[in-house]
Amino acid sequence: MSFLELKNLSYSIGKVNILSNINFSIDESCFYSILGPSGAGKTTILRIITGALSADEGQVVLDNEVINCLPMEKRQIAMVHQSKHLFPHLTVIENIQFGMKMKKFGKDKIIGKTEEIVEFFNMKAHLHKYAHQLSGGQQQLVALMRALASEPKVLLLDEPFTGLDNNLRLYIRDYILRLHRQFKITTVMITHDKEDAFFMSDKIAFLFNGRVVLCSEPAVLVNGTNIEEVDSFLGKITSLGDGSIVFSDKILRINNYNE
Ligand SMILES: Nc1ncnc2c1ncn2[C@@H]1O[C@H](COP(=O)(O)OP(=O)(O)OP(=O)(O)O)[C@@H](O)[C@H]1O
Ligand SMILES: [Mg+2]
Repeated sequence: MSFLELKNLSYSIGKVNILSNINFSIDESCFYSILGPSGAGKTTILRIITGALSADEGQVVLDNEVINCLPMEKRQIAMVHQSKHLFPHLTVIENIQFGMKMKKFGKDKIIGKTEEIVEFFNMKAHLHKYAHQLSGGQQQLVALMRALASEPKVLLLDEPFTGLDNNLRLYIRDYILRLHRQFKITTVMITHDKEDAFFMSDKIAFLFNGRVVLCSEPAVLVNGTNIEEVDSFLGKITSLGDGSIVFSDKILRINNYNE
C-alpha cells in the first residue's frame, strides 16, 4: 500500500519551472531511488517532502495524511543532506540526540535509542568528538545516526556518497542497506549514480528537467525502456540472466532480483 505519495507537484522559481506535475507513490518499507542528472530537480523534491520548500501545486501525502501544511518538525521525516550538515558546535552524541530532544522524547527513550544506534554503527569510540575531528565517512555515519534517532516515518538521503572515496562509498552503501533491512524504514535516496540505484533500490524514478519520465523496478530496466533519454542516460547494460548485470565493465547484482 502506498505510504508516501506525491500528487501533481509543481514548483517554480520566478517564471522558471523547476518541477512539473510530479507524481509518484512509495510503498511502506520500500527503498526508492530518484535518479537523474545534475539540476534535474532531485533535491528540490526532497525539500518539498520535508517542508523546507512549499510546492506551488499538488500534495504530499504521508501515511494517509496530507502533510503540505504541517510544519517541518511535525512531519516525521528525516533528511541526510548532500553536504553532511552536522552541527559543528555539538559533539557526536549531542548531534545524535538533537532531534530526539527537539521532539521531547523522554530521557529513558533518548538513552535507549542512542545506545541502540551507537551499537549498530559501532561508533562508541567517537561519541565526544566534534565534526572536525571525524573523517568524511564518520561524519556521514553520524548524519545517518542523527536522522534515524528521531524515528522518522521516512528517511530521505540526498546523494549520501558525495565526497567519499570508492572504498568508503561501498562501506556506507552496505551500512545503508543493512539499516534499511534492520529498521525497515521507508527510504528515498537521490543519486546520479546508476550503479548505486540499481544495486540498492526496489524502485527507481527517473527525473529529467523536473519531470518524472519513468518509474520502474531495476530488473525491468535491463532490457531497455524505449524512452530515449533514459536509455541514453543508462548506457549499455548487459544482463547476465541471473540477477547480475554488466555496466561499463563492472558486474553488479540487482537488488531484489527474483529468479
Ligand atoms: N534558489 C534557487 N534560485 C534559482 N534556481 C534554483 C535555486 N535552487 C535551485 N535552483 C534550480 O533548480 C533546479 C533544480 O535544482 P536541484 O538542486 O533540485 O537539482 P538536483 O537535481 O538536486 O541537482 P544536483 O544533482 O546537482 O544536486 C536547478 O536548475 C537549479 O539551478
Ligand atoms: Mg541535489
